[in-house]
This record gives sequence, C-alpha cells and structure tokens, in this order.
Amino acid sequence: MTESILAITGPTSGIGMGAVKALASEFDRMILLCRNLEKGDRLKHELVESNKKLEVTIIKCDLSELDSVEKASQTIINQFSHIDCLINNAGMISLTNKESVDGYELMMATNYLGPFLLTHHLLPLVMNSERKQVVIVSSGAYKFVPMKRPFFQPKQFNAITGYGRSKLGTLYLAQELHEHYSRNGLKTTAVHPGMVSTNIGKNNVSQKVGDTVFNLLNPFFVTIEEGANSVVSAVLHPDIYAGVYSHEGTVAPVKKHGGDFNMRRAFIDATLKELGLAQL
Ligand SMILES: NC(=O)c1ccc[n+]([C@@H]2O[C@H](COP(=O)([O-])OP(=O)(O)OC[C@H]3O[C@@H](n4cnc5c(N)ncnc54)[C@H](OP(=O)(O)O)[C@@H]3O)[C@@H](O)[C@H]2O)c1
Repeated sequence: MTESILAITGPTSGIGMGAVKALASEFDRMILLCRNLEKGDRLKHELVESNKKLEVTIIKCDLSELDSVEKASQTIINQFSHIDCLINNAGMISLTNKESVDGYELMMATNYLGPFLLTHHLLPLVMNSERKQVVIVSSGAYKFVPMKRPFFQPKQFNAITGYGRSKLGTLYLAQELHEHYSRNGLKTTAVHPGMVSTNIGKNNVSQKVGDTVFNLLNPFFVTIEEGANSVVSAVLHPDIYAGVYSHEGTVAPVKKHGGDFNMRRAFIDATLKELGLAQL
C-alpha cells in the first residue's frame, strides 16, 4: 500500500498545531512546512512520541518569501512523488504596514502569494496521490471588502482590509482549484475555522493590542481544538466538503465578493503574471 502523506503549513501554533495532532493517526507521514525549525523539531518530537509509527519530515519554509517557497517546494519535489493532502493553513495579521522581501504588502505575501506558489508547485504531487485533497484555511474575513487594484502593493494600508483581501485571495484560489481540477479528482475545501484565540495578530509590536482585542472578544471565541476540528473534518470527509466553503464545519454559500467571478478571474490572472506562471 502507498504511504499516505499530509503536508501542512503553519503547524507550529494554533489551528495548524491542533489539526496535526488530531490527524497524526490518519497519515503515515507528515511534511511540516515551518519557518521556525526549532519549533518544528519540538512538534516533530511530540508527534512521534505519541504516534510511534508516524514519520515526520520538517521543511524550512517562510511563506512571505518567494525564494523560500521555491526552495521548500523543490526539496519536497525531490524527496516525494505524491502528497495525499495539502493543508494551506499558515497565516498572519500585521497591524502595521510592512513589506515582504519581494516588495509586497506582508499579509498579501504571506497569506496568499506564498501559498499560491507553493500550491502551484505541489499540485502535481497532490494529483499523483490517492486522496487528491487541498484544504485551504481561509476566513470569514473574505467578506470584509472587495478586491482592489493594485492587488499586491495597495496604495493605502489598513490592517482589516489588508487581511480581508488576503483571505479573499485564498478563497479565490480554492475556487480556481475546484473549477480547474475537480474533474480530474481534486477535492478542494475552503474553511473558516471560527474565531479562535491563537497567536494570530500577536507579535512583539502588537502583543499588548492583540491580547486586549482577544480578551475583549473572548466570549465569542471557539477553542483551538474546535477551530482545528473544522479543518480536520474537511480532511476526513471530502464526501461532504469537497468543492465547498465550510463555515465552522457547516457547508455555507459564498457571499458578496466571494462570488465575483470577473474579479476572481482578473485577480488570478494578475497573480499568475506576477509569479511568472503560465497556469495554476
Ligand atoms: N484565529 C482565528 O480566529 C482565525 C479565524 C479565521 C481564519 N484563521 C486562519 O487560520 C490560520 C491559522 O492561524 P492561527 O489562528 O492558528 O494563528 P497562529 O497561532 O498565529 O498560527 C499561525 C501559523 O502560521 C505560521 N506562519 C506565520 N507566518 C508565517 C510565514 N511567513 N511563513 C511560514 N509560516 C508562517 C506560524 O508560524 P510560527 O509558529 O513560526 O509563528 C504558525 O505556525 C491562518 O491562515 C488564519 O488566517 C484564523
């Protein structure tokens, strides 16, 4: 029997960590794409301690840097011939205007462009597997605002709209994958995991603000396990979730700009051009 392989970004915290722990007995091997190798090694140790048969491979990948994504993808392609399930989970919120090393707004770079490029490179491996699955951790924030030109270097920074647009991008990516590859067996799900009290939005600059906001909103949060469970369900039940948007585990219609086909087309075409790709 072929080894079943899960690849996931952002497994070192929050929803991603909850998901890999819950899925550890479902796969023979996990490829953990981490920007912080120490955190990755700690997680690997913990996972194999409690799941003796599990093989874990750590791959260095900073999704905000296209070069890092290229290298990570090549390393994986050189080592593996298939990936059963790719979970694009990693993401971040920046409360201040920051540029990625490639000159893009940091949230658009990390949450969308990096994962898009990674998906492009790993898709042939996914299509070469038995499960053929891609799960994208999007967000209900896709509803905040419509996509706006210039797409990747906005003229004015706003943390909320910047985050919303990056997550709308991930929803468009999921829709494109479904549209182009479902006829060949690909099962794609976009997931909103709920409002989950994780490390997102908390960093050296904004730890205090992040903590205050999270404390204020605390009654509305679901636990990390519950948030991760939306992702886990999508992985385990493609019969229910393939080709749909899951809002905390409930199949939900995509609203507002999420259904703007012409904008999606323009945005995806611009992405392909920006990344120098002929197709997704
Ligand atoms: N929390 C919520 O309420 C909520 C709601 C809707 C959607 N989401 C989405 O859920 C996903 C997971 O977020 P979370 O809430 O679990 O946040 P989290 O606890 O901050 O975890 C984020 C993960 O992404 C990784 N990451 C961040 N920037 C990265 C980069 N440049 N390159 C590679 N990895 C990077 C982090 O790595 P480190 O451990 O090294 O920091 C961490 O493993 C995100 O896509 C987020 O947009 C979250």
